[in-house]
Amino acid sequence: MALRSAHSALALSQPQPAAACAPRARTVDPVTPPLAFTPALKREMAPLYERVKHVVTPMEWVHYAPLVKAINELKAKRNAVILAHNYMTPEIFHGVGDFRGDSLQLAKEAARVEAQVIVQAGVHFMAETSKLLSPDKTVLIPDPLAGCSLASSITPEDVRALRAAYPGVPIVTYVNTSAAVKAECDICCTSSNAVKIVESLGVPRVLLIPDQYLAKYVQTKTKVEIIAWKGACEVHERFTGEEMETMRAAEPGLKIIAHPECPPDVIQASDFTGSTAAMIDWVKTKRPAKVMLVTECSMASNVAAEAPDVEFIRPCNLCPHMKRISLEKIYEALLYNRYEVTVDPTVAAKARRAVEHMVEASA
Ligand code: 13P
Ligand code: SF4
Repeated sequence: MALRSAHSALALSQPQPAAACAPRARTVDPVTPPLAFTPALKREMAPLYERVKHVVTPMEWVHYAPLVKAINELKAKRNAVILAHNYMTPEIFHGVGDFRGDSLQLAKEAARVEAQVIVQAGVHFMAETSKLLSPDKTVLIPDPLAGCSLASSITPEDVRALRAAYPGVPIVTYVNTSAAVKAECDICCTSSNAVKIVESLGVPRVLLIPDQYLAKYVQTKTKVEIIAWKGACEVHERFTGEEMETMRAAEPGLKIIAHPECPPDVIQASDFTGSTAAMIDWVKTKRPAKVMLVTECSMASNVAAEAPDVEFIRPCNLCPHMKRISLEKIYEALLYNRYEVTVDPTVAAKARRAVEHMVEASA
């Protein structure tokens, strides 16, 4: 079944600004200023350094360790947890993340978290998803400008126009969209469950927005006709099939595993395709001698910390949005209670339905 594009009839929308996040006044007293790397602190933090020593240098640790300690103290004081996406840098991912994972795993954690405050170490749409699933919690994003090229590729008006152009065709939205876009859609999906969600609808055709490459990938796995939008991830779309062939020729025995946001020639050239969590599982289970993760660069560091026997060949494409999140900003988020993510209640009720449908269908 051929994949069709919806965007030919509809103009690609202008990028949206990230939703409003209001700075808030300080609500807790500062803990011990996170500055000094004393011998006592070095000893106290040694077990944690052991976990990251393959990917964090001793010089970097001098800077990170006091901040990690201060953040972990503040978390306890504020009854907060940190949800860390797989693309966070290792000092965040391993140092302060309470729950780590891909978009689906983090959304599930957000739904059952008991702490009063959630700090999203990820991008804005992920924080919105947490707010949708935990509306009574305070959800903070350390940098409100941490957006996503996929989320900014489509607006609610675009979705309404698609609905009018394809009456009766269900709209599946990738989780990488704003809450306002999700509110216009029937069900959400992530890269872990997109095929399952599309097939769960029991219809011959669906719109799958906004990632054209995820749509193409899903089309190779299902007989359901997929109608795609024109969005793309600015990190994954830069990889090419030619690069994959060059790396294979240069690195005999190399295993290539790719995220489904990559273009089709990259996916064709890879040994495995899956969500960030599925990629990590693949490496941990198969233990290849040499592997290239065709995705955001920090993920290889996070897996390398736990799989020192595997050699990682790194094509270093960084996500500029994910990289806005730092230990300093996480510390300040907890200290000053900023930047709180809110979703308009009417939008939230509709968007939550789309996300909850996904969680039910993927259970
Ligand atoms: P995952 O759901 O696979 O973690 O992907 C999220 C993302 O933003 C990938 O670029
Ligand atoms: Fe968005 Fe791509 Fe960054 Fe993921 S890696 S947050 S899809 S821009």
